[in-house]
Amino acid sequence: MIRNQWYAILSSKEIPMKGIMGVTRLGEKLAFWRTKNNEIACIFDNCCHRGASISSGKIVNDHAQCPFHGFEYNKDGKVDVIPANVRIKDVSD
Ligand code: FES
Repeated sequence: MIRNQWYAILSSKEIPMKGIMGVTRLGEKLAFWRTKNNEIACIFDNCCHRGASISSGKIVNDHAQCPFHGFEYNKDGKVDVIPANVRIKDVSD
């Protein structure tokens, strides 16, 4: 696989309307899901924290939530939520 190139690896119809789907293509484990706006998100299926499979997690507020410690990834693959860093006030809002 040549990085930063486009490859047709999956039909959009194969991506479920709910939940996360994990697939391996070209030797890479990937996690796919749909946002509330029906955008398709694809990130590496490997949590940056301890390497858990993100596709085994669930969708929370359009984020893919890692099943191990709950890191939440946005559709660009950035971690937006680290539960240990969430203040009590953030949770109650
Ligand atoms: S392994 Fe994913 S949050 Fe810890």
